Amino acid sequence: MKKVVLLALLLVSMAIGVCAVENPDILSRLTIEEKTKLLTGMNGMMTQDFASKGVRSLKFSDGPLGPHSNLELEVCFPNPCILANTFNKDLMRRVGESMGRLCNQQQVDMLLGPGVNIKRTPLCGRNFEYFSEDPVLAGELAAELVKGIQSRGVAVSVKHFFANNIEFNRGAISSDMDMRTAHEIYLRPFEIVVKKAKPLAIMCSYNKINDVWASENKWLLTDVLRNEWGFDGMVVSDWGAVHTRPACFKAGLDLQMPDDASTPGVMQEALEKGEVTEAEIDVNVDRIISLVRRIQNPGPSEDFDIMAEHQVAADAAAEGMVLLKNSGALPLTPDKVKKVAVFGTDARKPLISGSGSAYTPAPDSRVDDFVDMLNRYGNGVQFDYKDRVFPGGIPTFDHGQWAAFNGELNGYDAFIFVVSNGNTTDGEAYDRTTINFDSRLEAMLLHFCGRKNTIVVMQSGSAMAPVYDWYKRANSIVYMGIGGEAGGTALARLLTGDANFSGKLSETFSWRLSDNPVNENIFGNSERIKYDEGVFVGYRWYDANDKDVWYPFGYGLSYTTFEYSDLQIRDNKVSFKIKNTGDVAGAEAAQIYVHPIDSQVSRPVRELKDFVKVYLEPGEEKTVSVNYNSSWFTYYSNEENRWMRDTCKHEIQVGASSRDIRLSKAL
Ligand code: BGC
Repeated sequence: MKKVVLLALLLVSMAIGVCAVENPDILSRLTIEEKTKLLTGMNGMMTQDFASKGVRSLKFSDGPLGPHSNLELEVCFPNPCILANTFNKDLMRRVGESMGRLCNQQQVDMLLGPGVNIKRTPLCGRNFEYFSEDPVLAGELAAELVKGIQSRGVAVSVKHFFANNIEFNRGAISSDMDMRTAHEIYLRPFEIVVKKAKPLAIMCSYNKINDVWASENKWLLTDVLRNEWGFDGMVVSDWGAVHTRPACFKAGLDLQMPDDASTPGVMQEALEKGEVTEAEIDVNVDRIISLVRRIQNPGPSEDFDIMAEHQVAADAAAEGMVLLKNSGALPLTPDKVKKVAVFGTDARKPLISGSGSAYTPAPDSRVDDFVDMLNRYGNGVQFDYKDRVFPGGIPTFDHGQWAAFNGELNGYDAFIFVVSNGNTTDGEAYDRTTINFDSRLEAMLLHFCGRKNTIVVMQSGSAMAPVYDWYKRANSIVYMGIGGEAGGTALARLLTGDANFSGKLSETFSWRLSDNPVNENIFGNSERIKYDEGVFVGYRWYDANDKDVWYPFGYGLSYTTFEYSDLQIRDNKVSFKIKNTGDVAGAEAAQIYVHPIDSQVSRPVRELKDFVKVYLEPGEEKTVSVNYNSSWFTYYSNEENRWMRDTCKHEIQVGASSRDIRLSKAL
């Protein structure tokens, strides 16, 4: 009976064009002045305070590398470019819980992150903050992270919704794409997170989509987000992304950030002119009240142990660094080497964070020293840091100096180079200009990689590519990414064999920038970016165009080997076996792709649908299974404006990378 009454009320309210509100009591206590004030912040990181009326002020902090509102209580996690390489959903949940505990400790009610924008180009300055070029990998990992964070009674706002895939002119540009591209690629990670993890908030982006600002885009914020996906949380603007009031609030934005003193007046005037009704304002305010009520932040705990959270960061970093090449120098064990020289400006304290709002400082005492850690985990191997050698990171030696230097190194039997383009290349509000290292650094690598047992460790927030042939001469190459405050420990454990590599690339490392079609048209036009390559982003492009790449999406080596067998497809399950065929324990990230056969629709060669990370002792075998459903065989039709099943045949492919398919079976 109660249900019938509620349904009737809902239908009546819909008929008169007003959504039912969740908090009528609190709304009835607020004056219109208070309501219009609530639509904007109290300051840069807090909402308005009407605690006496049941709406307390909320404190926000930027993520996505962990909350940072109190230096002593913050932990700089490995940046999402590394978290994504773990391909590990359980680990993401653990990292999320840790970030949630840090929010509790810092009394942060809402974390501004994670960011799930697609890496359309390796040039995007904020790629270090984002997960992947693949929407399923980004969405599934972020969903677990969100579940973990929100399990601690705090909210997240997933960002930046959507099509903010470079920083260039982000506050003015229109990202133009068709509906298929939008739904299959750029909206998809948000959809997965919204449906699977129920984030309490979402942050709209700065840009326009097909000429309409994200912050006032009804199609985006109401039709897709709420009506199609069932989102019932609050929408916050990116900081300064609001242009027109009341249009933004009517379109589905609820909270304008940061504080804007003019908003209450503008909204009251709009009310008087009949441009907005109080019932419409109530809808936005109601969502803000619901957010306040849903957050159950228990606050600081006496049991809190920051080193336990640092350990979570170290474990995640160790799973996210990727072994790209190993001709035998790694791991650096005492049976192979006695003395190892370590080079690089940031070798002692590797980069911890990209810059901009995500920048998460950590007290120097908690940023692990890579060389100290090598000596701790090295089982008696001696690791010496050669700091005096490269003033400014790059040598400018004359011939005589080279000779003296080479002589000095003769006592060493392995060499580690930690290289980067410095700590200012990955950041917010600007983009990277290259995917190559500084040419002087490249020249130095070319020179040194001629020595035996040279290991090159690359630090960067997104894909890199070699120019000279150093990569052929180097014995081993590791992608370290940007590893957070515990990155030094993680790297030392991996290089000494105390931990095994299990990271896989969450983005393609192409040979050159021009191999990616996107880079042609991103900086040329300051008004619009055309997403002309459609759904062919990342490996979808390289595979469709048969392009050779340096390292493909999903690629990564281990100190052991894995054998895949026995693919079965039945009862809506894909199952297969993985065996550790080497002599050390390890973990394998198996990837499940769908490959359409002879489709009449222009579709990618293969698309990632799921992934599983399996831990195996030497000789151990496990059966892995994942569920599938009909959505695996659909595409979004521009003509019909909906998801459609492709009637062609499909093959399920199980791979160790997108270009190393080990098992396949047609359905
Ligand atoms: C960024 C957001 C960030 C916000 C608050 C904006 O400039 O785009 O990612 O959360 O600032 O610092």
